[in-house]
Amino acid sequence: MKVILDMDPGVDDALALILALNSKELEVLAVTIVAGNTSLSNATINALRVLELIGCDVPVAMGESKSIMGYELAMPFTFIHGYDGLGDLNLPIPNKKAESIHAIDLIIDKLKSHSYGEITIIATGPLTNIAKFIIKDYEVAKKVNQIISMGGAFNITPYGIGNQTPVAEFNIFRDPEAASIVYNSRLNVTAVGLDVTMNPSIFIDKEMHKKILEKDTKTSKFVANIIKRSIENYGFFAPHDPLAVAISIDPKLVKIMPLHVKVETKGEFTRGQTIIDKRWWVKKKEDEKSNVNVCVDVDGKRFLDMFMERVVENW
Ligand code: RIB
Ligand code: CA
Repeated sequence: MKVILDMDPGVDDALALILALNSKELEVLAVTIVAGNTSLSNATINALRVLELIGCDVPVAMGESKSIMGYELAMPFTFIHGYDGLGDLNLPIPNKKAESIHAIDLIIDKLKSHSYGEITIIATGPLTNIAKFIIKDYEVAKKVNQIISMGGAFNITPYGIGNQTPVAEFNIFRDPEAASIVYNSRLNVTAVGLDVTMNPSIFIDKEMHKKILEKDTKTSKFVANIIKRSIENYGFFAPHDPLAVAISIDPKLVKIMPLHVKVETKGEFTRGQTIIDKRWWVKKKEDEKSNVNVCVDVDGKRFLDMFMERVVENW
């Protein structure tokens, strides 16, 4: 499967990139960058760092630093990502440079040069780049096989509560208008929300972190070091973005429900909330039937086995 990764590296984005590059089922055509966990420039440098570390030559293009409404997207969450977005390891500045083309145009070019249904987009940051490419060329956007978006808190499982506000997940909260555009695009959208990514069965806990450190290889030390802040601050690391990539490799890792999702863009306390109408007795109009495939359960053990084998051990 050919994939384009749109991300805001970000520690878990970096691990998702490693998983994708290290999976023979995927061919990474491009990495496009959006601000979020850190600034657009830092996120770009971090993606280039990971590609250089792994020795992969994949085009990287910079996208949006501001949301659809013009707000700054970057909101560094240093307790997990550090100040530079990659755990403040002071990794060398990469020799590899980003492409001169804008992320949105690179996505459009890749879709134009491939057949219908050949490319899956995996978005692990705010959805600004994705919304803007859909708006810019909807006919081309319809060629996409699937958009897998890490984002949302759908209040379906006990874990599906917010992480930026009591009800909003970070990627959606940074650009709710973009999320609404993507969710209502009528494209094949799968949402990997906190309902599954905050399920403790997928967490890397202190014990697992110790095991990763004990492997004492270049790769295991890199992984152990970039997740260290989260382990120290919270006692665990939640691999949100690697799960989104894992689902493109093995969709059976999750249970999915087609649901109708509205994104709140106005509420003083609810902006960025992803709302599902659970009223089973209410007859829904055609345009209120499902618009998003929402992940509602996950096989944590099988996911962690894949993560350990492909992110920690073999690259
Ligand atoms: O809420 C978690 C998501 O927000 C992850 O994608 C993380 O990298 C941040 O972008
Ligand atoms: Ca991310």
